[in-house]
Amino acid sequence: MKMGVLCCTSLQLLLAALVSLTGICMGGSDGPRGVVLPFVFDLKATCEPPCKHAGICIRNNTCFCMRGYEGETCQYANCHPKCKNGGECLRPGKCRCPSGFGGIYCHKVVCDGGCWNGGECTAVNREAKCICPSSWTGSRCQDAICPQGCRNGGSCVAPGICSCPEGWIGGACHNAVCKRPCKNGGKCVSPDNCRCRAPFYGPLCEEKKKHV
Ligand SMILES: *[C@@H]1O[C@H](CO)[C@@H](O)[C@H](O)[C@H]1NC(C)=O
Repeated sequence: MKMGVLCCTSLQLLLAALVSLTGICMGGSDGPRGVVLPFVFDLKATCEPPCKHAGICIRNNTCFCMRGYEGETCQYANCHPKCKNGGECLRPGKCRCPSGFGGIYCHKVVCDGGCWNGGECTAVNREAKCICPSSWTGSRCQDAICPQGCRNGGSCVAPGICSCPEGWIGGACHNAVCKRPCKNGGKCVSPDNCRCRAPFYGPLCEEKKKHV
């Protein structure tokens, strides 16, 4: 082997790789002459498709891969530990995680926006979901549950607690408010609206029909 042959870039790369991988010492001023290579390689080798990720073509269609890559053309990166939950190894130590997973190895479940009110982010069929405590619901456990229901336009603002519109009160906003009370046994059936018992009538049931 003459120095003149050892000029090409891929060979220099190969030698650099071998030095870094195997610790071969190239002492002295006359370079790599005399280095014993641990495998046969062919300077005129061609690899088609070409070696990827700085892999070196050492024989026809045989690539020598850099550390962290494998495959016929060194096309696959290796992640140690492997990417979890369907993550893809982009380059050694770097996983691309599917949505719902995160962390260096895609080992963490990630709920977008988090889980509120004590909800717990859990993987269900490879999908990140919030598991809510019994009194909360919604994709982020953001909605309180009012088992009694909130009627007449009321909204559930906390577990079991309705916020009622003006004119309604009660746990389920089920009681109307009549600012002036209904008289003579009349019943307040909607805000400021009395339903009277015969023989009474009028806005507050204060009148009595004379002929009855
Ligand atoms: C490698 O391939 C080239 C071109 O395809 C060919 O000329 C050469 O003989 C091959 N070398 C070996 C060792 O098979």
